[in-house]
Amino acid sequence: MLILGIETSCDETGVALYEAPQAGLRPAAAGTLLAHAVHSQTAMHEAYGGVVPELASRDHVRRLVPLSRQVLARAGRRIEDVGAVAYTEGPGLAGALLAGAAFARSLAQALGVPAIGIHHLEGHLLSPLLSARAPQFPFVALLVSGGHTQLMRVAEVGRYVLLGETQDDAAGEAFDKTAQLLGLGYPGGPALSKLAESGKPGRYRLPRPMIASGDLEFSFSGLKTAVLTLIRNENPVSHADLARAFVDATVQVLVAKCTLAMLQTGLTRLVVAGGVGANKQLRAALDEQSRREGFDVYYPEPELCTDNGAMIAFAAALRLQAGKAVSPAQHAFTVRPRWDLAALT
Ligand code: KG4
Ligand code: ZN
Repeated sequence: MLILGIETSCDETGVALYEAPQAGLRPAAAGTLLAHAVHSQTAMHEAYGGVVPELASRDHVRRLVPLSRQVLARAGRRIEDVGAVAYTEGPGLAGALLAGAAFARSLAQALGVPAIGIHHLEGHLLSPLLSARAPQFPFVALLVSGGHTQLMRVAEVGRYVLLGETQDDAAGEAFDKTAQLLGLGYPGGPALSKLAESGKPGRYRLPRPMIASGDLEFSFSGLKTAVLTLIRNENPVSHADLARAFVDATVQVLVAKCTLAMLQTGLTRLVVAGGVGANKQLRAALDEQSRREGFDVYYPEPELCTDNGAMIAFAAALRLQAGKAVSPAQHAFTVRPRWDLAALT
């Protein structure tokens, strides 16, 4: 079945066409991502230093039709071939979610096919199954995005147990706020990571929040404050060395918590998903730790780390294949700006 995936939870419009395999076949081996396209709004929001929700919603409305046409053309398919429309139902910005949900639901209604609301984080955490080297269930998932930092135990599609999460800022948020303090623009995660490459390690010492808490909770807001204090007190301050100190501290905390999660669950596979999962330093440190501790780490393809429609179409395909509930076609629908992943069934 051909599934159109629509992602509009924040500041990226993502559209994808995924050919789902027949029931019973292993999804990663049998399905095909035919085409996908992402329009990033970062240039539009940059002037404001962050996402402006109303501008985001309006831009999604503008982009959805042309992006869908483009993806269909690239895949050489017609709109009538689409057998289901999957969209991000939450969590995310209410207006942005509504733009995607309204588009997806209307299209599904017009085509007479099911519309499938997908949890954005489920999309992220299943996305490594789309890569050539796909993990088997069960696994531990580290979800590190702009809005979330969570460790989950994943038994199978739809069975997610929260092991721990951030008590304040998400890791991506800490990257972005620190990048802003260093004048690197928005979203600064990738730029901060790049700057850190030329920084000297150990020049500045930043805290490793909650690293020894003995549980799987995180806290990142203190790190950004520590960076601010250093900028105020040190004169001159080396931005590259400070970027390096921030990346080293963040990565060390993430690696320590992942290691503890592997120990506590006794599982041997770790999946890393979400925008920060694209971070080079994090990948290198996790790869090294996994060799030392004897577990395997899996990542999505780099272009599927950040928000995209492919992960939404793919999550819908896995849900359909697993016989999970798909909400019936209806005129009324809702979006869920806040939505607990562990509440999924
Ligand atoms: O998953 P995502 O695209 O959107 C959310 O659902 O939040 O994640 C975006 C976050 C941003 O905070 C961005 O700065 C961060 O991921 N990010 C990175 C890198 N690429 C994206 N952070 C550090 N290093 C990167 N290479
Ligand atoms: Zn995301």
